[in-house]
Amino acid sequence: MADQSAGAAASAKGQGQQQEGLSNLLHEERRYPPSAEFSAQANAQADLYERAAADRVGFWEEQARALTWAEPWTQALDWQPPFAKWFVGGKLNVAYNCVDRHVEAGHGDQVAIHWEGEPGDTRTITYADLQREVCKTANALTELGVGKGDRVAIYLPMIPEAVFAMLACARLGAPHSVVFGGFSADALASRIDDADAKAVITADGGYRRGNPSALKPAVDDAVARTSTVEKVLVVRRTGQEVAWTEGRDVWWHDVVDRQPDTHDYEAHDSEHPLYILYTSGTTAKPKGILHTTGGYLTQVAYTHRYVFDLKPDSDVYWCSADIGWVTGHSYIVYGPLANRATQVMYEGTPDTPHKGRLWEIAQKYGVTILYTAPTLIRTMMKWGEDIPAQYDLSRIRVLGSVGEPINPEAWVWYRKNVGGDRAPIVDTWWQTETGGLMISPLPGVTTLKPGSAQRPLPGISAEVVDDRGNPVPNGGGGYLVLNEPWPSMLRGIWGDDKRYQETYWSRFPGVYFAGDGAKKDEDGDIWLLGRVDDVMNVSGHRISTTEVESALVSHPAVAEAAVVGATDPTTGQGIVAFVILRGNVAEDRASGDEIVQELRRHVAKEIGPIARPRQILVVPELPKTRSGKIMRRLLRDVAEQRAVGDVTTLADSTVMDLISSKLPSAS
Ligand code: WTA
Repeated sequence: MADQSAGAAASAKGQGQQQEGLSNLLHEERRYPPSAEFSAQANAQADLYERAAADRVGFWEEQARALTWAEPWTQALDWQPPFAKWFVGGKLNVAYNCVDRHVEAGHGDQVAIHWEGEPGDTRTITYADLQREVCKTANALTELGVGKGDRVAIYLPMIPEAVFAMLACARLGAPHSVVFGGFSADALASRIDDADAKAVITADGGYRRGNPSALKPAVDDAVARTSTVEKVLVVRRTGQEVAWTEGRDVWWHDVVDRQPDTHDYEAHDSEHPLYILYTSGTTAKPKGILHTTGGYLTQVAYTHRYVFDLKPDSDVYWCSADIGWVTGHSYIVYGPLANRATQVMYEGTPDTPHKGRLWEIAQKYGVTILYTAPTLIRTMMKWGEDIPAQYDLSRIRVLGSVGEPINPEAWVWYRKNVGGDRAPIVDTWWQTETGGLMISPLPGVTTLKPGSAQRPLPGISAEVVDDRGNPVPNGGGGYLVLNEPWPSMLRGIWGDDKRYQETYWSRFPGVYFAGDGAKKDEDGDIWLLGRVDDVMNVSGHRISTTEVESALVSHPAVAEAAVVGATDPTTGQGIVAFVILRGNVAEDRASGDEIVQELRRHVAKEIGPIARPRQILVVPELPKTRSGKIMRRLLRDVAEQRAVGDVTTLADSTVMDLISSKLPSAS
């Protein structure tokens, strides 16, 4: 039901957004051809596109051969729409591919991870170290009763143990479900519950903005509300006091450190579940996106090698995402390690203890490839270009962007102030569901256009279609769809095949509906224009309007709530909520600021601080159509301080005046 009304709202909202997007982007005419010097050394050459087009599945088989398989596949692709199996019959171990094989090939002394803690402590982890740590962790998990097929929730800060834990799970064939450390106990509980997790791996806490921030209390709270968790494995990171449940809780240093540092791995089926990662959809309940083994690793390794032009012997790669998001899974853990990258991993926030921290780290380790998000770039723009100018960033040679459309001004700033006016920028479009990069320029091949992700990668097929599912001509706008299966595609929503079909494969039968608006320019290049459904994108994080609304109405003072994503110069979108308070809330309380602050805190507690509304407006009514559907388009006009659009379909057209008249007093 909720999905249906969201679908109906999608076209109105999508078109509104696209009109704006189209007119802004039509004027962008700057072009950045690759330098001859870069092209000469690039991993990617133009013929990749032709090779992939000539034999798409064969091309993917060629990419899969870059991995080490214990048993070869017998069928490259089994496609029973919308269910795909890749490299059927093949067997491999992901952890072996990401770690052991590099050590066997003589690269044990190569640094895998330069880890930097927020307080300034550091750890250097070579591939040989990583192999020992992953083996010990796998042995420890086995001792704790975790076996192949069991689900393990991971709720950790950005510390190396997060990587050890993920790879140990992969080694055992125990699918992990990483939950972002910024999510609340509630969010953790619902994810533990949905996947029936048997164990949780966490820490006492992590460092954020100069202070230890606790994680264990949220785990205690979440586990108490669920029934499947038998063991909680706890890393001591901050040394803060923690409550302890005897028999259930075990310290990492007690159990992992004493394990043997070798471990015989089993090769898993190519379609064995590797992980579940929850993401927001158009309903209040997050979806458990399921990824499997062989196809996933093939695509993340392939895209990482070509799109970032990785040279494992000389590059220092840094992806600034958190491990709790898909970017951390695919482009900190699986892709880079499968490719034997040396990488930087940083625990903390970019402005702790000062606003040059990221550049200081980049200089210290000689970072050559940097992958980050537009929201961070815009924040850096606000802080000023004199900050990156204080550091030596001359080794940087490739820059990446992910998570939301990057506006051309931020793109150009990034190139000039971080990339020395020379490093190509790859604007990579993809999703939790796609597992790996899908649409992106190839550095050394593509003439770059600021603000455009440009072309589907070799082996990927995408289209922009109109309302009826027909491809739009060049110059037209519509919805982004993916019209051929790809190796790292989601294999479903955990435990809910019906929802998988309905969410992605029913808007346009037979093709994958991404939920993004897009435009094709005169050259056929793709420009992404943002979500066309009720999913907001705040600092590159997906949050559903419905999820925030249901958090708000769970507060006893709230009768009704409507949430919209309003354009925000730094975070892309900001969450703006309109609430109607219950009749029993006293007038003086209802008009005060206190209730607004209380509701903001309430949402942060229910979902996590990333979902805390930027603004909450207490209103007497919400704009509804005659059939009772809330017209978010009008609320967005208010939130973005525009003249309110067409109100003729409202059941009561005076409502918008009532809302507008409330605005000056609202917070
Ligand atoms: C948006 C993050 C424009 C898009 C990897 C998508 C982008 C959603 C880009 C997925 C980009 C991601 N240009 N929009 N380069 N990259 N998006 O699942 O709306 O957290 O649907 O995956 O982010 O977000 P998710």
